[in-house]
Amino acid sequence: MSASQEKPKKTSEAINERVKALLARMTLTEKIGQMCQVDASAGYAPDYLGEDLRAGRIGSVLNVVDVNAVNELQRIAVEESRLGIPLLVGRDVIHGFRTIMPIPLGQAASWNPDLVAEGARVAALEAATAGINWTFAPMIDISRDARWGRIAESLGECVLLASRLAVAMVEGFQSDDPAARGAIAACAKHFAGYGAVESGRDYATTNIPETKLRNVYMRPFNAAVDAGVMSLMTSFSDLNGIPATGNEFLLRQVLRDEWKFDGFVVSDWDSIRQLQIHGLTENDRESAFEAAAAGVDMEMAGDAYNTHLGELVECGRIDINDVDVAVANILRAKFRLGLFESASTDPEALPSIGNDHALETAQQAALQSVVMLKNDNAVLPLCAEKLSSIAIIGPLSDAPYQQLGTWIFDGDTDLSITPMHAIHSLVGHDLNVRYVRAMEHSRSKVNDAFDDAVEIARDSDAAVLFLGEESILSGEAHSRADINLPGDQAELVRRIRETGKPVIAVILAGRPLTLTNIVDQVDAILYAWHPGSMGGPAIADLLFGVESPSGKLPATFPRMVGQIPIYYSQKNSGKPATRDNIVHIDDIDTRAPQTSFGMSAFHLDTHFTPLFAFGHGLSYADFAYENIRVSADQIGLGDTVTISADLVNKGDVAAEEVAQLYIRDLVGNVTRPVRELKGFKRLRLEPGQKITVDFQLHTDDLAFYGRNMQRMTEPGEFHAWVGGSSEAQLRTEFRIAAGDQ
Ligand code: NOJ
Repeated sequence: MSASQEKPKKTSEAINERVKALLARMTLTEKIGQMCQVDASAGYAPDYLGEDLRAGRIGSVLNVVDVNAVNELQRIAVEESRLGIPLLVGRDVIHGFRTIMPIPLGQAASWNPDLVAEGARVAALEAATAGINWTFAPMIDISRDARWGRIAESLGECVLLASRLAVAMVEGFQSDDPAARGAIAACAKHFAGYGAVESGRDYATTNIPETKLRNVYMRPFNAAVDAGVMSLMTSFSDLNGIPATGNEFLLRQVLRDEWKFDGFVVSDWDSIRQLQIHGLTENDRESAFEAAAAGVDMEMAGDAYNTHLGELVECGRIDINDVDVAVANILRAKFRLGLFESASTDPEALPSIGNDHALETAQQAALQSVVMLKNDNAVLPLCAEKLSSIAIIGPLSDAPYQQLGTWIFDGDTDLSITPMHAIHSLVGHDLNVRYVRAMEHSRSKVNDAFDDAVEIARDSDAAVLFLGEESILSGEAHSRADINLPGDQAELVRRIRETGKPVIAVILAGRPLTLTNIVDQVDAILYAWHPGSMGGPAIADLLFGVESPSGKLPATFPRMVGQIPIYYSQKNSGKPATRDNIVHIDDIDTRAPQTSFGMSAFHLDTHFTPLFAFGHGLSYADFAYENIRVSADQIGLGDTVTISADLVNKGDVAAEEVAQLYIRDLVGNVTRPVRELKGFKRLRLEPGQKITVDFQLHTDDLAFYGRNMQRMTEPGEFHAWVGGSSEAQLRTEFRIAAGDQ
């Protein structure tokens, strides 16, 4: 759908009328109460909570997951408070509730919006059984720094991919009707710019020029708003000197005035009071003022609003009309969720937790998220009939908790099937499966068991190593400066390599790791992220060719951490690096000293390209792209152009491929990226099958914010590539002719 056709989803008039009528009956205390969310993780209704609920001083609770406790809280709010306003019950349901899908970055590697939507639907249904009616997801911060632990929760580096999947998640959580049984409100977070924290340190500051903010970081949020997301969360981070939680430009100008968002904005955890720690305010009172003035409707887990907002209204610094607007934003969500009709939960009326459909969805998601990074000499798939034994080695072979990844407060480890168990059930009766864990955990530097691992590798036909990071090494506040495989894992790989047996690395991790030190030591790499409950069966099916890998990278893999930020949609610069104008430090002739080499944008001590490019991912099939064409060499503003290419499966297995369209706008009012993803399609091809892949591009799809912060499509020359990664070489061109805008 082109940008011009998208329409914000609006609340119905009937609901607006009900909100108005309710507001008219509310006291200032009751209004401010709606703007306060409290931590109820104690799991029951303690006296203080009950008292505050009865007095209408709480609008929302978070982190209570016992359905009986939630029902009791709702009962008190509805039956024992003056106005009977039900509660929003929030929880971080990030990639599943009890049944865990792959981490969001892994789901993004599926490039499959339908599957991502289904994962969110399953998560919503399970969460709803606990009385949860609001999730703090999707997290849609564009993430171009693998050091940042929260890249795991994100949908990757690309504006289009993250935007499409953000919409899919919102639709999955909320469904067409948020009042439907099992639907919950979504919360797009963290608005905005959090992914750009300096050096990938969580919570650090961000400095983002407005063109970049608008052309990159804000775009997935704009898409989520257009898709009707019911809430947004502010970011913890400072944006160009004004922390997001006190940033009127973000929360009023962009979100309300430009995008016409009609949901509500919640702060992040205690981030209103943190305005003082940032150095923006002197005390909590001023923090409450700045946040309310900026447009934060609800405070999460802090007491600045509760304590100071009333007085700020009474002394005239905060206009009561602004409070009314904030409260109306929150009440609309409660009406849209149908909470005034029924706030209590009957878990029996919902599908059971961890049912077959939930597990199948988790398995499909894991299957489609795994990216095959390399496969020398077609060592994969392993053929159970031709092998007599395999060695399974490594700290993540049989780690039911670790494979779930970050943010799995409610995940059920009993539902996890590990790769070791899945391989046993798939091929255990055909071949001898030996297992040595070799390391207690991924960070271990104890290598006493390496000899045992070498021995079973030597006695087997192939070694499969399950390596990576435990879940604790990624996620919030879990950033790393060194993103190599932790502990002694590289040494383990080296020792197994020495056996001369085929070595397959399966990597479970919450981020792109730098794999330069092992990539040449292994014959194949399957990158499985943290694959969730059903990671084991998915990986086993891929290893043994029951299915072909079809994931594609949603983030660029650097060779060295010093290359960060490295992403496919970089700007060209005035001196772009090419293969011909770079020098490696080892090739500098020290006998004839030179003062300059290369004179282009590269590092002397590594290549200028990444180790694995955005969009990369291999298959057991052999896909070829041919014959790219364009429906018209020249189009006018407002027109649509079709770019097509033939896709052929030259291999001998059926498999899925994600075809990708990239463009470059050659000349811009502000400089444009060297490539931008503009379309993608997941397609299944039988052996020998040839199909035409079409991508329609409306000129609105080529729009960007220029130097006057106006969104525009400029006439001029465009290049377009179709292929299986951001390194696609098959290119065509078209031009947009100048004309009436
Ligand atoms: C802080 C995190 O930044 C946010 O993403 C999360 O939703 C809240 N805590 C609530 O747990």
